[in-house]
Amino acid sequence: MLPELRVGARLAVQRLATRGFALAGDPLARLATAPWRYDPYPIYAGLRAHGVHRSRFGFHTVATYDLCSRILRDRTFGVRTRDGLEPPPATQSPLPMATAVIPTFLEQDPPDHTRLRALARPAFSPRKIENYREVVRKTTSRLLDDAMAKGTFDLIADFAAPLPIAVISDLLGIPDVDTERFARYGRVLGASLDGTTTLRQARALRAATVDLQALFRSLIAVRRATPGDDVISALVHSLDAGELTELELVTTCELLLIAGFETTANLIGNGMWTFAQHPEQWELLRADPSMALGAVEEVLRYESPIQLTQRITHADSVIGDVEIPADRMVIVALGSTGRDPGAYSDPDTFDISRTPERDHLGFSSGIHYCLGAPLARMEAEIALSALAERLPAVRVLRRPRWRSTTVIRGLRSLPMRS
Ligand code: HEM
Repeated sequence: MLPELRVGARLAVQRLATRGFALAGDPLARLATAPWRYDPYPIYAGLRAHGVHRSRFGFHTVATYDLCSRILRDRTFGVRTRDGLEPPPATQSPLPMATAVIPTFLEQDPPDHTRLRALARPAFSPRKIENYREVVRKTTSRLLDDAMAKGTFDLIADFAAPLPIAVISDLLGIPDVDTERFARYGRVLGASLDGTTTLRQARALRAATVDLQALFRSLIAVRRATPGDDVISALVHSLDAGELTELELVTTCELLLIAGFETTANLIGNGMWTFAQHPEQWELLRADPSMALGAVEEVLRYESPIQLTQRITHADSVIGDVEIPADRMVIVALGSTGRDPGAYSDPDTFDISRTPERDHLGFSSGIHYCLGAPLARMEAEIALSALAERLPAVRVLRRPRWRSTTVIRGLRSLPMRS
């Protein structure tokens, strides 16, 4: 059989098995399957009651705040097996590739994770990002002017996606950005975090990877000749100093680009849909737009863009009262932690004036804590306060549909009237 057909057949069997497990009531399979995936919160409640749940896939899942927080901060859990081989990069197509693909630092353990993260970190420090506030404000105003001039607009396509795409592209130093094309790549690479499930998706993933690699390789050459004040120029300097390889640089740029907008776009979208369902909270924000930063934190607790992550035991471990041998995968249900009544009072109530009992895990915790958190917070704060100043009410034209992904929770579109 041709390699592509063989991959297609394997993916079809996997899809059938997942649906079968979901029909039989397996919570992890339900999180990955329509229609259950669109409302994960009752599934999370069931998982929390288990403490540690063993799925029919063989993976363990933790969903309480305390267990998730403990595992994320525990250095005996990594993101790859101890030999470094598994799992393969999430954004790698299972189809044969002409070019090499390596894991991003999000998918690597120390020491490579430590080295690569340290090279990217200075560009995203809170002080560096604060200098960027005016640029974000101007971009926000321009996009909102254009969107609202239409009368009816799609909050996602006209505002929530283009804003972080413009900001992260500018920070990285990518000129002449094709917003539509980047948004499409973001959807393809974001969906791959669930694992590739169809041949069509595998092909789209391969095409996006090839295209982004070519883009970053050509930008590396340009910035080497004429360095600028951008992240790629800084990383090219590290490349020339022998601190990372060219493939590591390309992969790091891909991570920064996609993580830099896919999540923030969904934070703004999830936030506005949540406000549409809680008009009294929108009134609160309108009365005092300085509540926007608290509102951002509340959306990250209540309806977070990243719902799941995974860790791998690097030693025989005991979680709760369950023994898990080394090199086994544990799913960490970040999206469940904000709804855990053991961590927050009234966790299913959306309240932007709440003083939370603890920090949410929307940006994860431990050594992989989101590098872009200061940027995401600033962009979402500016976006929500600008929307609150301009929109008397969140008037949604029709009930939106969630994207058919599990790790990333976000809307396909949010048609609104200005
Ligand atoms: C609302 C927006 C965002 C959310 C909810 C979010 C969430 C997360 C989460 C949950 C992780 C860790 C996953 C894990 O522990 O396995 C992470 C890591 C990361 N995020 Fe974000 N993120 C957001 C925005 C951004 C932005 C704007 C950037 C810009 C560069 C960014 C860059 C990264 C990077 C580079 C990592 C990998 C960190 C590491 O492995 O050390 N993120 N993010």
